[in-house]
Amino acid sequence: MVKWTTNGAIFFTGAAQRVGLHCLHRLVEQGERVVITYRTHRPVIDELRALGVTCIQADFNRQQDIDHLIRQLHGSVGPLRAIVHNASAWLRDVNTQVDHVSVMQAMMQVHMMAPYLINLNCRELLLDGRQAWADIIHVTDYVVEKGSDNHIAYAASKAGLDNMTRSFAKRYAPHIKVNAIAPSLLMFNEGDTEEYRARTLHKSPIGIEPGPEVVYQALEFILDNAYMTGRELKLDGGRHIR
Ligand SMILES: NC(=O)c1ccc[n+]([C@@H]2O[C@H](COP(=O)([O-])OP(=O)(O)OC[C@H]3O[C@@H](n4cnc5c(N)ncnc54)[C@H](OP(=O)(O)O)[C@@H]3O)[C@@H](O)[C@H]2O)c1
Repeated sequence: MVKWTTNGAIFFTGAAQRVGLHCLHRLVEQGERVVITYRTHRPVIDELRALGVTCIQADFNRQQDIDHLIRQLHGSVGPLRAIVHNASAWLRDVNTQVDHVSVMQAMMQVHMMAPYLINLNCRELLLDGRQAWADIIHVTDYVVEKGSDNHIAYAASKAGLDNMTRSFAKRYAPHIKVNAIAPSLLMFNEGDTEEYRARTLHKSPIGIEPGPEVVYQALEFILDNAYMTGRELKLDGGRHIR
């Protein structure tokens, strides 16, 4: 049953793996129209195209890719019911060998520059694709609240994205709602050690690896809800009360 995309598509950045891929499969199962970006071409892209998903390649470290993506959204995608800014890289900057300039630039491009320019340039597409309203959703992180001593640029750039939630919510009300989803651990990465997993699980009173479905549930809630804008949904297992 198509619920959200009768007028415009749902546009999801960085959705060819993990959380984004799960959410897009859930949307496609329900017959919704989905457009995604991916950076690395993997076999899953051809499978998604066969399912009817529009897949656009873009590396947000390259300014020309962001500009080209925006032109493609206007030229060949058209009206949008929602934009979900999910693309992310979790670069560590604790090591002195790291090129800190490159790390900060990459974090700013993917978490701030791309969402900033896409939001500014896709307002009309959202107005055309809205039903009662349209949505922009920023996927941020629990570290926005706490900071991080080994992912400083990551935390700062996600905090910038979090701040843009409120600025765009003001600018785009009442027809476009803008909200954030702020998760802590959702899924471990391959290669995470048992010691790391145990330490991370212990950070929240709920103490589980919830998987990507909790993000989909938050997404559904925001898309359905008429009265929430400029806010964030925190999905962190209660880390703040630990
Ligand atoms: N997973 C967790 O436990 C967790 C915890 C807290 C917050 N979050 C947030 O939740 C969201 C989803 O998490 P996730 O683990 O599924 O994300 P992810 O797999 O780390 O990243 C999603 C996608 O972003 C793409 N990407 C990275 N840099 C890019 C760039 N410069 N230009 C374009 N695309 C780029 C990647 O493409 P390539 O694969 O081609 O590099 C990747 O497929 C993210 O915003 C993340 O920050 C996740």
